[in-house]
Amino acid sequence: MQTSQSPIRFAERMNQLPPYLFGIINKIKMEKRWQGIDVIDLGMGNPMDPTPDKVTEKLCEVAVDPKTHRYPAAGGMKNLKREIALYYKRKYDVELTGEDDVICTIGSKEGISHLCLALLGTGDTVLVPTPFFPIHVYAAVIAGASVIRFPLGSEEDFLRQISAMCRSLYPQPKLVMLNYPHNPTGTLASRDFFSEMIKLAKRYNFMVINDFAYGQIIYDDEVAPSLLEVPGALDVGVEFGSFSKSYNMAGWRLGYCVGNTEMVGGLGKIKGYYDYGIFSPIQVAGIVAMRDCDDTILEQVAIYQKRRDALCEGLVRMGWEVEKPKAGMFVWVKIPEPFIQMGSIRFSVEMMNRANVAVAPGAGFGEEGDGFLRLALVENENRIRQALKQMRRALVEIEQEVKAGIFTLTPEDSTEQPTAGSN
Ligand SMILES: Cc1ncc(COP(=O)(O)O)c(C=O)c1O
Repeated sequence: MQTSQSPIRFAERMNQLPPYLFGIINKIKMEKRWQGIDVIDLGMGNPMDPTPDKVTEKLCEVAVDPKTHRYPAAGGMKNLKREIALYYKRKYDVELTGEDDVICTIGSKEGISHLCLALLGTGDTVLVPTPFFPIHVYAAVIAGASVIRFPLGSEEDFLRQISAMCRSLYPQPKLVMLNYPHNPTGTLASRDFFSEMIKLAKRYNFMVINDFAYGQIIYDDEVAPSLLEVPGALDVGVEFGSFSKSYNMAGWRLGYCVGNTEMVGGLGKIKGYYDYGIFSPIQVAGIVAMRDCDDTILEQVAIYQKRRDALCEGLVRMGWEVEKPKAGMFVWVKIPEPFIQMGSIRFSVEMMNRANVAVAPGAGFGEEGDGFLRLALVENENRIRQALKQMRRALVEIEQEVKAGIFTLTPEDSTEQPTAGSN
């Protein structure tokens, strides 16, 4: 018997995933680029600077050996895991064996997602501060857990909120998701904060994940401690690192998870069902990055810092209120009056359409982010200055249209809250 119903039906969890935020902006961006229009992309945190030469050279050297074309060591090569452990000793004085306390991942995003699948299920609760990098919420949602969001706030407020929620919620939260240095705000955590967090984790029996993807991108001689420096962290938590940002290796897909051996083991178990690990030459090249590229990171950070200054100072000259981020690859800035009335999504679309500048609307990082923009530091200083010029011109044009009554400063009709989705 024929039915008019489509056989294509998704699982219920798909209904909990909002549409891809960059979809709208990216679509316009691609159309413009197809027409030969130069779009300045301050939207995604997709590094445009190259991977260090010695890393790429090592990849090429190793990739010609047919032995490396076979399935790689699941969970990461012994030598890469050892190098990651040595790195933690050298940078943070953290003792890791490099065996069951380290696992390599296909970028940190994959690792975070699968760890959530290993740790969480229906009935579990996760606490995530907002604004948030989308996978921190949606990995838990996909795993079937409930997510409680709360404002990032000061360290004191953060700790107070966690302990209040642990006292009032039943069942008690199972996991707290941290992300320091923070995307999108660039906030850093102090060692004392981590220490108090670990004490709370032990008192209230929850696990802690720190996404440390921007651990090396720090400005003005600030310090970004590792969660694992804190006594007791290895009993309750793990940290994720990424090669994407530190070494401009976003396309290589290499990351790692370090810390509590049971959590690392759980991630290894679930990954054993899903994937076969990372192409061996990429892992070997990763060893070179970790071992020999500390200087390259410093050079890259100096570049980002100059871009940050050019962007923030340019925005201030436009009359915007902006705080320079202490870390990360982004400037998180409030849209000034009267344009804030448009909301961040419409504002971003207008910037794309009128100024040929892609920006990430704050709404993609949780509804509290609406009213903000996230601007990535991936374009060079000249192009950043050019982007600001084009944005300024577009804003003057909008003001004139408002005065003429042909443009209203209202958000576009939107029934669904989109998410930033990628990076
Ligand atoms: C906070 C944060 N975590 C993780 C990632 C993903 O990194 P990876 O390329 O290692 O998957 C990103 C990418 O932008 C990020 O901003």
